[in-house]
Order: sequence, then structure tokens, then C-alpha cells
Amino acid sequence: MPATQIRLNARPKGKTDASTWKITHDAPPPVKDGEIAVAVEYVSVDPAMRGWLNDVKSYVPPVGIGEVMRASGAGRVTESKASGFAIGDAVMGQTGVQSHCVGAAAAFSKADTKLAPLPAFLSGFGLTGMTAYFGLKEVGQIKTGETVVISAAAGAVGSMAGQIARNLGCRVVGIAGDAEKCRLAVEEFGYDACIDYRAGSVSQGLKEHCPKGIDVYFDNVGGKILENCLNALAMHARVVLCGAISQYNAEGERTGPSNYMQLLVARARMEGFVVIDYRPQFPGAIKQLATWRDEGKFTMREHIVNGLDQFGTALNMLFTGENKGKLIIKV
Ligand SMILES: NC(=O)c1ccc[n+]([C@@H]2O[C@H](COP(=O)([O-])OP(=O)(O)OC[C@H]3O[C@@H](n4cnc5c(N)ncnc54)[C@H](OP(=O)(O)O)[C@@H]3O)[C@@H](O)[C@H]2O)c1
Repeated sequence: MPATQIRLNARPKGKTDASTWKITHDAPPPVKDGEIAVAVEYVSVDPAMRGWLNDVKSYVPPVGIGEVMRASGAGRVTESKASGFAIGDAVMGQTGVQSHCVGAAAAFSKADTKLAPLPAFLSGFGLTGMTAYFGLKEVGQIKTGETVVISAAAGAVGSMAGQIARNLGCRVVGIAGDAEKCRLAVEEFGYDACIDYRAGSVSQGLKEHCPKGIDVYFDNVGGKILENCLNALAMHARVVLCGAISQYNAEGERTGPSNYMQLLVARARMEGFVVIDYRPQFPGAIKQLATWRDEGKFTMREHIVNGLDQFGTALNMLFTGENKGKLIIKV
């Protein structure tokens, strides 16, 4: 297969479409001292990618026009001029949306494929699992017996957050976009209940399933659902600002929380976080998730789409809710 790259062709307004991307087949650059070459096997597809396309201030610079689209990926080393990496090693890191990449070895870590197959290092044992784990434990400060509500409950982060909260002894209520996702949340991901936000009133569902209020709201979606949850907070609640996918494609004004004064009423705290800030603590978290996996208390559901040329279609699936579990491209 010739080397293939997916590059940013034009900044989108609203939803991305075919004109956003350009496919090229350039040969990878030569490997310099301290670098490795990787044959990329899997590429992670993440909601944050939509934000990286906007030319605005964020926690990383925007992807430039003509640049290879930024992405986490996993694959095998094909050439190494760095100590500690040998040909054939399984690695994960910032590969970009492309079939072959060359980069500083320091930007990659080895994936222990004896622990789990390669896609797991973009899923539960990668940034997705780490987001759920540190968002709940460090930002949410969840405690046994508390009521935890999680939106996008059957998605990548949500499906893992539900299981982690359950394993830590919480009552866990999900919010998801259809009956099948709600079924998955309860039957596969250990939620006690799940509210279908398209089928009825979220506020009513929260009253029913969280009669004493929400102690921790893990927010993946923002917008109206965030407002519904702020109205249902228990005293001293914590709101974990993980993401706001309902707003990522918005053109013009974004939907508030207009009722943020509910934080004052409940003496509550709302805090955002970026998972990579917890990188030094990842090994301990992976060990805990692997233990739960071995005990049958943690499962990872991956939604694999075949072919780099499907990247644009796959990215939009996150916004229509077509994905169930962690969305990954098989190169
Ligand atoms: N802070 C961090 O460091 C960090 C790291 C990774 C991810 N994140 C954030 O975590 C969130 C989840 O990411 P993920 O990778 O796990 O994606 P995901 O949950 O696997 O996929 C996104 C899901 O969002 C839901 N959704 C889409 N549009 C929506 C809308 N308008 N209103 C309500 N729900 C909507 C859909 O599920 P339904 O069918 O249920 O609507 C969709 O399946 C995102 O906000 C992402 O930006 C943050």
C-alpha cells in the first residue's frame, strides 16, 4: 500500500464534509537520530478533532491547512534511530491520520500487547480510559455511595466512566441518545439506569432516578443536558467538564449553561480538565483497569471502521451518535 495521509484542506464552518479533507500519497521523510518510523495500524477518532480545526485559542494549536490531521494512533516500528525502540515494537503516540509516520521517539510509548490487543491502547488502556478514570477520581472526587450521572453514556469515555463509577461503589445513571444505547449502558456497562434524552424529558428522568440529587455529573455533551443536570445537583456536588460535543459544530452563539447560578445554590464546583495533564499517573490507572478487566468488571467496546479514506465519515459519526463505544479507524 502506498503511504497515505489525510490532510486538512479547508477549515469547516459547522459540520465537516468531503471538502474539509485532502488525501495525499507522499513518501514518509527519512528517519533522523532520536526518531522512529511507524507503520500505523489503528487511528483514534475523537470529538476533540473538530475543535482542532478551528483557528482559535485552545489547549493545542489548530491544525494548519495542508498539514496531516492530528490524531493518536498505534502501530509497529519499521525503523529506529532511537535507543529503547526496535523494529517490530508495538507503539502508541501522536501518529496523525496517516498510514506511515516518522517522529521523535519521545512522543511514543510502547504498547504491551501481552496485556491487550493494539486497539485497546487507543481505548480503555489509552486516553479514553484515562479520561474516564482521572475525570471521575481526580476532578469528580467520587466517593462510595454517591450518585453519579454521565452523559454520552454508551460512547467511548461514557461507557468506561460508567463501569469505573460502579466499581467504586456509586449509583450510576446514564444519559444517551436512543433505546439501544440505554440498553447497552445498563446491560453491558453496569449503569443502574439510563435516560434516553431523545425519547422524553431529561429533567423528569433525573427526578425519577436521582431522588436525592446528583453528587457528581460527568459532562461529555454540554448544552441543554448540562442545564438539566445543574438543576438537579445535590449539595456540594462536583461537575466534571470533560467535553461539550453538542456545541462543537455550532456556528455562531453556543448554548450556555444559562442557569450556572445553580452551582452557587448547591455550593457546587465545576472544573474542566485535559487528560494529558495526568500522564505521569497513567501506569497506575492502567494497572487498576487491567485488574478490573481480569475480574470481569471492566469491558472495552470498540467500534472499528475500515480504511483511512473513511476518516471524514467516521468523524461525523460521533456527532450523529452512530458510534457505540470507542471509534477507531483500522488503516
Ligand atoms: N477532557 C479531556 O481530556 C477529554 C479527553 C477525551 C474526550 N473528551 C470529551 O469526552 C466526550 C466524549 O468523547 P468520546 O471520545 O467518548 O466520544 P463518544 O462518546 O464515543 O461519541 C460521542 C457521543 O456524543 C453523543 N452526542 C453527539 N452529539 C450530541 C448532542 N448534540 N447532544 C448530546 N449528545 C451528543 C453521541 O451519543 P448519543 O447517541 O448518546 O447522543 C455520540 O455517540 C467529548 O465531549 C470529548 O470531547 C475529553
